[in-house]
Amino acid sequence: MGVTIALDLPTPWRDRAGRLSPLRIAALALLVAPALWIGWLAWSDGLGPEPLNAAMHATGRWALRFLLLTLAVTPFGRILAWPRLFQLRRMIGLGALAWVALHLVLYAADQNWVLWRVVAEIAQRFYLTIGFAALAGLAVLGWTSTDGWMKRLGRRWKRLHRLVFPIAVLALLHAFIQAKSDTSSAVFLLGLALWLLGWRLMPARRQQGIVPLAALSAASVAAAIALEYAWYALATKLPAERVLAANFDALQFDPDFFAPRPAILAGMVMLGVLAAVALRRLAPGGRAA
Ligand code: HEM
Repeated sequence: MGVTIALDLPTPWRDRAGRLSPLRIAALALLVAPALWIGWLAWSDGLGPEPLNAAMHATGRWALRFLLLTLAVTPFGRILAWPRLFQLRRMIGLGALAWVALHLVLYAADQNWVLWRVVAEIAQRFYLTIGFAALAGLAVLGWTSTDGWMKRLGRRWKRLHRLVFPIAVLALLHAFIQAKSDTSSAVFLLGLALWLLGWRLMPARRQQGIVPLAALSAASVAAAIALEYAWYALATKLPAERVLAANFDALQFDPDFFAPRPAILAGMVMLGVLAAVALRRLAPGGRAA
């Protein structure tokens, strides 16, 4: 089986024709760079008083970012009329799996390698149980991501790999629950995830239009704000109304103190995407593409 995998998966930096691919090299660098940065921080005592725990948190955040990036490949490839992006989907998905595996290894290290305790914690704590379910699901998708499995499973392959959406929801829930009273990072990623999931639910003929994409962006930000409010109101004792109001304060630009709420920040990323789409369409040949 190991040999099959070795033959099925192309060398990451070469395309299917065996040529060096700058796009694939850039994606590989993006996947590896945060590990080098975390390694550097660990080496230079830059991870704070609990370096293992800090590294475990950082790997969790990167795993979720790369999982969402995997979901972004198809929409971006389509709306930017850039099909070469599709060749990155498998690599980024496997990269996300590697980051999740590292996250689990660091968790076990943080527990002093007492593996029975790791297993017991995963079984007893709800947020760890769903994290594990997400990891197990990703492992299955990673294992079956090869050309051989694609052929073997035929039409069922696509159905199986749609599991990436519920897996992303589980991973987000895991991040939300562990975040307790500071959900900033989780809300930011939730806003982007809502956009990515919403795009799949749009009718195909609307998926490319600037106006439907702008409406999707506005709806995703509004939903992220509403879910953030619901989280603070239902799961914490913090003043949810003040968190909600802060989203609208952030719209009043103060050059000395500009710290937008996470849902607004996600909206800014979406504006960036809309600008990229508009520029792409204005470029020579862009409309035809
Ligand atoms: C067996 C599987 C997993 C275990 C044991 C695990 C464990 C943990 C633990 C212990 C924390 C920190 C909780 C705290 O400090 O209270 C955490 C945070 C986190 N995990 Fe996981 N996790 C797992 C799977 C996943 C998966 C599949 C993802 C995403 C794809 C993920 C993403 C995150 C994120 C984003 C955070 C929050 C980091 C932060 O904002 O500081 N985890 N995880």
